[in-house]
Amino acid sequence: MAQFRILIVENDDIYRAALAARLRDEGYAVREARSPAEAREILESELIHLASVDIRLLNDDDRNDDSGLALCRELDATVAKIIVTGYPEWDLVRQALQPQNHRGHRADGFFSKAEDPEEFLKIIREVLREQYDLVPDARYAVLTSGGDSPGMNAAIWAFTRKAMRHSVEVLGVRDGYRGLAEGDIRKLRWSDVSGIMNASGTFLGSSRYLEFRDPAVREKAVEILVRKHVTGLLVIGGDGSMQGAQALSRARQGRILRTVALPGTIDNDLFGTDISLGADSAANAMITELRHMIAPARALRRVFVVEVMGRYAGYLAEQAALGVGADAVMVTEDIVETYDGSGGAPVKEQVDQIRTLEDFLQQLETVAERLRAGFAAGNRHGFVILAEGLRLLTGDDIPTRAETLLANLTRRWPEKYRADVRSQTLGYTVRGVPPTREDIRLGAMLGASAVGTMLGGRGNVMLGWKDGAGVVETPFDTVCSESAKAPRELLAARPGWKELLQLQRDLAEPPSPLPLP
Ligand code: F6P
Repeated sequence: MAQFRILIVENDDIYRAALAARLRDEGYAVREARSPAEAREILESELIHLASVDIRLLNDDDRNDDSGLALCRELDATVAKIIVTGYPEWDLVRQALQPQNHRGHRADGFFSKAEDPEEFLKIIREVLREQYDLVPDARYAVLTSGGDSPGMNAAIWAFTRKAMRHSVEVLGVRDGYRGLAEGDIRKLRWSDVSGIMNASGTFLGSSRYLEFRDPAVREKAVEILVRKHVTGLLVIGGDGSMQGAQALSRARQGRILRTVALPGTIDNDLFGTDISLGADSAANAMITELRHMIAPARALRRVFVVEVMGRYAGYLAEQAALGVGADAVMVTEDIVETYDGSGGAPVKEQVDQIRTLEDFLQQLETVAERLRAGFAAGNRHGFVILAEGLRLLTGDDIPTRAETLLANLTRRWPEKYRADVRSQTLGYTVRGVPPTREDIRLGAMLGASAVGTMLGGRGNVMLGWKDGAGVVETPFDTVCSESAKAPRELLAARPGWKELLQLQRDLAEPPSPLPLP
């Protein structure tokens, strides 16, 4: 049967031995330390669930000796603490029991040696009941990093609950890699994750923490995890987060820390999964927003040029365009190519040598022609969807450029079906929606599977979802190198996207003029 591990820190050998014997009789696993130094050694070498700490550990006759309290303050917040004293040092006890900061180093209980040791057992039982939902054998941690995405909470919920089913306690890291480096980590209780799967964003908080590129910062983060006896870390995020996880796995230098990642980004731009957490919710939200624009467009015979989020990937733009029957969708994958000038493969982040703004404007003229034919055939509204990546890669205000050019061209149309043009951007309001059923399902499946991966002793992999295969594991190295490829190469690697893009265009094609003599 699983046992709670209790550490007794007490310099009175006879008293300590008696307490230890009584606790062992009760079925606890007991460790004994005579001094703060011995206690630290034990705490470092194994996961202790509760520490009972005498206040005067160095000199029983010294009224100023509060070395036990000092030890308590430095103890990890995830270890339950009971203060023990043989002297009526009420001020010190009050101070130890006071709530301190949010990382909470306060003691959880107090016992006076003047009392019957049976009372001590009662206090231990109370504190354990208050602090634990299970007897943990191991500890994992979870963090969310980069842009939040709907479905992250479902993954945290499933990971935490599934781990608990295997006697693993889960710690939540606040604000992504920043919290990891700063040790902002707390225990997640069973009830902490109740109902969170329905909420948008991430209840752990997130950050874009560039300092994590520094190896010394990562080393420190690993140290913090190892000191807390964390043997598995779940990272949920996008491509930057994957790079962080990949680097972290290199920083652990022989210590057991299995890092597993889940794709959490609305952009759906990661290799190793058909779909990432949040993409379905964001695409649905975009379609809803676009539908709300149809009435004003039809009332005033208008074309809306709408830029949508998705970073360098056209997935969201494509889904939104098909979902609303747009006249055109313009994505980086088939317009933009970037080169680093070395003659090698195109590079995504290189923005200064793009040879495409012209391509874009040229393609826009074709779009204008299609819109004209559509309005001539009876349309009263039009949509041109632009992927955000076009602006990111060209550094140009693409929506305004498109609005200006299209407005100039539509002005030349015959008056009876002439349209005007407005541009708009869909951003954070679609990222912040509650998750769809699909994203909750995906989060639950991936979060729960991550526990199996860690228990199976595997790490350095991202879990993704492949239609037909289910949950699949891909090594970080592959995820990072493949995801960094240029948009056009990525499109070639995803035949499904290409087909969808073509379908969207076929369905938007207006009728050709009748072949009348
Ligand atoms: O990666 C998700 C995303 O919403 C992208 O679509 C967008 O380019 C980016 O994040 C915006 O970043 P931030 O939230 O830091 O402004």
